[in-house]
Amino acid sequence: MEKKRFILDNGINREVKEDKIKELTELLRNLNEKGLTDDLKKKGLKLVRSISPLELSMAEQSLVEEGMDPSELRHLCEIHMLILKGELEKLQGKISEGHVLHTLIKEHELILGFLDKLDLTTKNIINMEAYDKNREEFKEIVKLANSLLSAEPHHKREEDALFPELEIRGITGPTRIMRLEHEDLRKKKRSLRDLGESVENIDFNEYKEKLSKLSNDICFELRDHIYKENYILYPTALESIDDKNNWSNIKEKCDKIGYCDFTPEECK
Ligand SMILES: [Fe+2]
Ligand SMILES: [Fe+2]
Repeated sequence: MEKKRFILDNGINREVKEDKIKELTELLRNLNEKGLTDDLKKKGLKLVRSISPLELSMAEQSLVEEGMDPSELRHLCEIHMLILKGELEKLQGKISEGHVLHTLIKEHELILGFLDKLDLTTKNIINMEAYDKNREEFKEIVKLANSLLSAEPHHKREEDALFPELEIRGITGPTRIMRLEHEDLRKKKRSLRDLGESVENIDFNEYKEKLSKLSNDICFELRDHIYKENYILYPTALESIDDKNNWSNIKEKCDKIGYCDFTPEECK
């Protein structure tokens, strides 16, 4: 509830949103029935172009809250990503290797790679009839949960180095939401690891059910989180923190906090 109130307080028109949600729901129903046909792709592009990234993100959230399975949003995300690809490239064009935001964006790419693997591995397991300890997928789930947990220095750098600089400039709503999402995701990532490690001790159907829920939630929420940072929060940061010295100070703090196991050397 808190998320919605904040975003609405910050100027999103509720009527427009509700109207668009109706259209989006209709489009998604068609997409799920017919797949991504040329006609629906065209309609989808037009609809998605008519709303802001923040509104789309909210619409997606509302659909999930209304009971839509997050995986059903995939087509919409694909369409949206087609449009936004150019936007992220523009932001990246303004910063160079070693810049705090450059490193965070690079880490996002790698985290998204973990999520794709998590999606795929979960699907393979869901299709299994019985637990087979020789199948690599079961170890892979634990490995992926640990990889996601090892992104902690990334989130710490955001929370303790980047966000405070935004907060002293009065941008406090978005950072509060990002902090809440970090906290929620930390719990879910830990639960995924614990579930992965307990596969031999619980009923296989129960394992599959819990895995499917956790994995879908993490993939959806973390992709959405990264999306909001890449397309909304980081561009805002680059615009509002306009002194080079400020960025050097943030970078110093980031170096002190440290980097993830998977952060490329040249980005540190
Ligand atoms: Fe974050
Ligand atoms: Fe992030």
